[in-house]
Amino acid sequence: MTLSVGVLVSGGGSNLQALIDRIESGILDARISTVISNVPGVKGLERAAKHGIPSQVLPHHDYPNRRAYDQALVRSLEQADVEAVILAGFMRVVGPDLLAAFPRRVLNIHPALLPAFPGLHAQKQAAAHGVRLAGCTVHFVDEQVDHGPIIIQAAVPAQSGDDVDSLGARILALEHRIYPQAVQWLAQGRLKIQGRQVVLLPARVLRADPSGLPPCLIHPMLEYGF
Ligand code: GAR
Repeated sequence: MTLSVGVLVSGGGSNLQALIDRIESGILDARISTVISNVPGVKGLERAAKHGIPSQVLPHHDYPNRRAYDQALVRSLEQADVEAVILAGFMRVVGPDLLAAFPRRVLNIHPALLPAFPGLHAQKQAAAHGVRLAGCTVHFVDEQVDHGPIIIQAAVPAQSGDDVDSLGARILALEHRIYPQAVQWLAQGRLKIQGRQVVLLPARVLRADPSGLPPCLIHPMLEYGF
């Protein structure tokens, strides 16, 4: 049931790193089949190379329009046998062709408590607005920017005197925790979209035990420590 994902980046790739780390520690049941960047030379590509993950650079300005770029992304993702697409700091709007190729299988993370502060420089907008709670959101991608059904959010208190850097750092630390969790729920098939809402289905009872024992059902339940 390992989910094959393609991760799209435009920059530092710290969220990509968080996914890699959870996969390597056996917590996240996913395989990153490709990393695609629209910007050459970014750290996200270095991170992929360091972990032996295939990567590609698809510069958007090599394509005549958004649609042609979207179609090129779809071709690359399909060639890599990707089942779901994870936008991790990918600063391009994805269009209908990509969404149609991966229906309900495109996730994005945004550094704000959506629907507040969609679009660019969300942390700066939040700091400038003087919000008391800032945060981040993982959501399904739809045809509008930072808009689709919300999977998980995390909030951090914003202090007086916070600027974009101090607030952004606290938000980013939470991004690294909630994104792998959302991808794991997707991998487990536990996210059901009902209109604007996402229902988190319960975990299956029978799971392989991390100790390596085969799946089993024990009733009455073991008590703490056994
Ligand atoms: C993250 O803060 C992510 O939420 C944001 O870009 C940053 C990428 O950091 N994405 C957006 O603003 C999308 N609207 P990273 O490259 O270190 O993961």
